[in-house]
Amino acid sequence: MWFCESFFLKIVYKPHKTIYNTLVNNKKQLKREINTTENHINGRIYIMKILESKFVRGFIKMADDGYQQGWHERNGGNLSYRLKPEEVEMIKPRLNAPGEWTPIGVEVPGLAGEFFLVTGSGKYFRNIIVDPEVCLAIIELDETGTNYRIRWGLVEGGRPTSELPTHLMNHEVKKKLTNGRHRVIYHAHTTNTIALTFVLPLDDKVFTRELWESATECPVVFPDGVGVVGWMVPGGREIAVKTAELMKKYDVVIWAHHGMFCSGEDFDLTFGLLHTVEKSAEILVKILSMTPRKLQTITPDNFRALAKDFKVSLPEEFLYEKE
Ligand code: 13P
Ligand code: ZN
Repeated sequence: MWFCESFFLKIVYKPHKTIYNTLVNNKKQLKREINTTENHINGRIYIMKILESKFVRGFIKMADDGYQQGWHERNGGNLSYRLKPEEVEMIKPRLNAPGEWTPIGVEVPGLAGEFFLVTGSGKYFRNIIVDPEVCLAIIELDETGTNYRIRWGLVEGGRPTSELPTHLMNHEVKKKLTNGRHRVIYHAHTTNTIALTFVLPLDDKVFTRELWESATECPVVFPDGVGVVGWMVPGGREIAVKTAELMKKYDVVIWAHHGMFCSGEDFDLTFGLLHTVEKSAEILVKILSMTPRKLQTITPDNFRALAKDFKVSLPEEFLYEKE
């Protein structure tokens, strides 16, 4: 009896408890650091180590959260963040000497001179938290908005994500339309949303309405709806132009048989938006797996009542009568 108890405590319980405590404490420490990193000490500007800065830590946490959700197999997905002027100033002394300019492949004059933190092409999201300096880059755009150069990161070589044209064109559209508030563009390979692009018509109105119906919070979280791009070759100018056009109307754009792009003000809002759309898609996939016909659902008048109470305006184009 004594032997059993001691065996359980020493071999099973304590080691597991220690691992558990370490994981919980690491998470708490990361949260504390994200919340307390300061750029002023005794009234003087503190030149921050790039990896200590709040935006880099927030970026890494978001990328890892996405990986934990299962949206980033292999090198799937990419993330970009437009730095604030004060963040650029804070890290400037630690940036690498300027190197060669490289063409972006699209023109984004509205972003001339801006700095972005981006994921590297071919880099795995699961490795970002382990070795951010290998997986990420800070890039600077030139005064014409047609070239970029790497100023930090990718220490083992490489280049920014192959979806840089789409990220930057989306940033340009959103910067203008939100007076600079939107700073994050996120692309993930969201399983359920991708599955729906095989069974629903590739139409903004149908996707928006079906996603809204699948979870009550949806019309409040994305009242403008979602846009859908039919299958296209990824990574180039053509898909970037098409996506950015839809980003003028929506914060969410679904790429058929590929994934999703979301735009938002900060890491929490952008991650939360993509998470909400994908959760709703998961519910819809479950519904459609059980039956082709819903017995009851949220009606157009229910949506109108919701809009009134939650003070959002829901475009009537999505509240059409179904046969
Ligand atoms: P990158 O590795 O170049 O970012 O590409 C991943 C991806 O998801 C392409 O759409
Ligand atoms: Zn992709």
